[in-house]
Amino acid sequence: MGVAPYALGFAAANQEGTFEALPIQGTIPGWLRGSLIRTGPGTFDVGKQSYRHWFDGLAMLRRFSFEDGRVAFANRFIESRAYQEAQAKGQISRGEFGTTARHSLIERLRDPLPRLTDNATVNITLQGNHFLSVTESPMPIVFDPVSLSTLDYFHYQDSVPGQITTAHPHFDFRENAVYSYLVNLAPRCSYSIYRMDATSNQRELIGSIPVKQAAYMHTFGMTERYIILTEFPLLLNRLSLLVSGKPYIENYDWQPEQGTRFLVIRKSDGKVVHTGESEAFFAFHHVNAFEQDNEIVVDLVAYPNSSVIQSLYLEPLLHHSDQVIAAGELRRYHLELNRATATYEVLVEEPIELPRIHYQRCNTRQYQFVYGVGCSQSGHFIDQLVKVDVQNRNAQIWHQSDCYPGEPVFVAAPDAATEDEGVILSVGLDSQTQNSFLLILNAHSWDEMARVQLPYHLPFDFHGQYFDPIASSWSHLHR
Ligand code: CO
Repeated sequence: MGVAPYALGFAAANQEGTFEALPIQGTIPGWLRGSLIRTGPGTFDVGKQSYRHWFDGLAMLRRFSFEDGRVAFANRFIESRAYQEAQAKGQISRGEFGTTARHSLIERLRDPLPRLTDNATVNITLQGNHFLSVTESPMPIVFDPVSLSTLDYFHYQDSVPGQITTAHPHFDFRENAVYSYLVNLAPRCSYSIYRMDATSNQRELIGSIPVKQAAYMHTFGMTERYIILTEFPLLLNRLSLLVSGKPYIENYDWQPEQGTRFLVIRKSDGKVVHTGESEAFFAFHHVNAFEQDNEIVVDLVAYPNSSVIQSLYLEPLLHHSDQVIAAGELRRYHLELNRATATYEVLVEEPIELPRIHYQRCNTRQYQFVYGVGCSQSGHFIDQLVKVDVQNRNAQIWHQSDCYPGEPVFVAAPDAATEDEGVILSVGLDSQTQNSFLLILNAHSWDEMARVQLPYHLPFDFHGQYFDPIASSWSHLHR
């Protein structure tokens, strides 16, 4: 098998740029007047070295700004320490998810423990007036939302313990607060659950849950009253992390005999009120969770095991493009508080990843629609967009040959009457033109409204958020 047809999506961006008006086919709705800001890899190469995993590349921000039917664009590398050190040394300086940094003996003697990376390549959030680019180390990077220049770290004024976090915090609109967690890798590991007011930089520890071995968790679920930590049996060997020299994620072992546990934690006092048990499965992304009657419903994108992580190394992605696992099964788990076993149903057969919902309206509540990426053929990379109706259990597809669309971000129309009244924004790669483009779909009809042409390609990215022009509120911020 030759190189994958989408290989350009894993090649370095050729340039950083700023464009006031990009060419548009179709019409952009006049009400769309904010900015989509995304993060993801900008390059996988440093000097003669290369990062090994899709999640590893040095972070680059992308911004699409909409005004009066026009679209401006900018892309720029984040000048993290990981980036600056790599530039200065001409080699990889900090280990990433699937790549180790090789250090000289002198460097290792001076700095025996691996340094955390600040390569903020996973997601964008807003805290107070600070735009943050984040990864799974608790070192968010503050950037200027217009110029995309790197400003500083976001400095927390507290002492909540932990070295690993999620790039997907949840927002509670009633409390105007963020909920998230840290994994504390002390000799006795624990999960630190915290709350933080929307405009604060102080995390309040609301609960600390001791664990024998910390699980690798990319996201969590939240209902009105509860946090749900879904502990997959991909478990950290702490000693190995400290001394093995293996890439970060390779210090976690898949232990299916342990099963997957749902820890239900009360937001008001941090107590674990229920532990649901299930057969082992793995997931990156929760979709939504809500309470109904005597149960908690948890929707997520499941995989039978953690081999999806291996599948997303660049070598298999580029050279075994008929054996890729890049999308999972949309499952609904039912946690009954008086029953230890969690049960599930498959919501639709259509594979899905990078799931998004109308977050402000639907998070923690009953809802109808999930938007995501998908795969037209089993074993292939992401090449379509999916809209799932979880109430009627059906899916609609957007697919075009030679196109590889990314995470679909839903933006509600002003005064939207229905859950899906608005647009979908998705940045894709067209392997025919060798350029990236922004696709705008009518979220309700699922018809293409407009396509915005970029003058070059961008590597495939992960997550982004849409912000109103005056970004002092989270009003359109999803997660
Ligand atoms: Co994610």
